[in-house]
Amino acid sequence: MKVVILPGAGEVARVAARRIAEAVRRRRDAVVGLATGSSPLGLYAELARQVAAGELDVSGVRGFALDEYVGLPPAHPQSYASVLRRTVAEPLGLDPGRVHVPDGCAADLDAAAAGYERDIRAAGGIDVQILGIGANGHIGFNEPTSSLSSRTRIKTLAPRTRADNARFFAFPEEVPVHCLTQGLGTILEARELVLVAQGEAKADAVAAAVEGPLSSMCPASVLQLHPRAGVYLDEAAAARLR
Ligand code: F6R
Repeated sequence: MKVVILPGAGEVARVAARRIAEAVRRRRDAVVGLATGSSPLGLYAELARQVAAGELDVSGVRGFALDEYVGLPPAHPQSYASVLRRTVAEPLGLDPGRVHVPDGCAADLDAAAAGYERDIRAAGGIDVQILGIGANGHIGFNEPTSSLSSRTRIKTLAPRTRADNARFFAFPEEVPVHCLTQGLGTILEARELVLVAQGEAKADAVAAAVEGPLSSMCPASVLQLHPRAGVYLDEAAAARLR
């Protein structure tokens, strides 16, 4: 695992964005795995800046969300379909039809999850997967005790995750209880992993993922198994590394 410690969040965004831009330059129709949440926002803003400056063409890119809440329709402002439209497709000028998101409102969620796996495979697999990390060590919504070989499936959000994500909703009880998430096995099949973390609230999870044992109690520790995993940290997020 490559661990890159940078002075601040701006540098994390710029250095991590370079990994994505390189994948897109190598292959115009690169398949990019997209995280939501706060961590990748600077990276997305940096890519949008490069697009606006004429330095990068993302019009051929295909995106696959990491996860989606169950029960929030795509038009709900906090559904990940909406969030990715606002934070990725619109700022990068990417056709929203090129951004795939699991269908968290499907009548048959198991079938929707299996279909999402098929869609990723049909696209040729994910070239570069962008990741954040939860304070409890989750990636995607693979909460502690997730199988290290899991595939896209329904999960129950941990109380800590629901509390952390309550900031996006008017009332904490509005945070959905379930989600569809790419599995750890799915994530490990991406050709490159780019995890970004900023701030001291992530320092314990980062230390467990990078230096702790490989364990389903810290799902992000699966990055230790990947031959091309990069972890891009500001100094606060790196503070508990030895
Ligand atoms: C989001 C996702 C989550 C977040 C994680 C960190 O699609 O899969 O794993 O990356 O919860 O969230 P933030 O970045 O908001 O701290």
